[in-house]
Amino acid sequence: MIDKKVEAAFNEQINAEMYSAYLYLAMSAWSQEQNLPGFGGWMQAQAMEEMTHAMKLYHHIIERGGRVVLGAIDKPPIGWASPLAMFEAVLEHEQKVTGLINGLVDVAEAQKDRAAGIFLQWFVTEQVEEEASADAVIQQLKMMGDAPHALFMMDRELGKRPAAGGGGGGGE
Ligand code: FEO
Repeated sequence: MIDKKVEAAFNEQINAEMYSAYLYLAMSAWSQEQNLPGFGGWMQAQAMEEMTHAMKLYHHIIERGGRVVLGAIDKPPIGWASPLAMFEAVLEHEQKVTGLINGLVDVAEAQKDRAAGIFLQWFVTEQVEEEASADAVIQQLKMMGDAPHALFMMDRELGKRPAAGGGGGGGE
């Protein structure tokens, strides 16, 4: 049986992961509006990946006889000043999520819920990759400056990420 405090914290994290999916879907839509289909595809894959994160938590709660309680998902922003500003928002968001995951690890340890602790290790590792992939794009965008041709090339590069996630810079 899952510890009740861990269960509550996992339910909150399901909400945070679903908000992440919403945020990246909003970024995908904005990218499409900007005629950057590669950025849009990358963000859509990222959104789908966030849903798999939510589902991992969902299944862990259910498997251990707990109760899934879903809350309302906040409304994400609808636009960003530039592709660079958008990716900076991704990194900032992922850093926040890393803090949330670390907080979950603390709750699991405090409650001596070993199964939850082991389960969360995957998320700890995933967050390293999430932050690194956003930062890599930021560094490239900064190097390019405002050159439209470079942005076009970057769009093509980001568009190579598989549609359902699972590689190409964003992890599983
Ligand atoms: Fe589910 Fe992007 O962390």
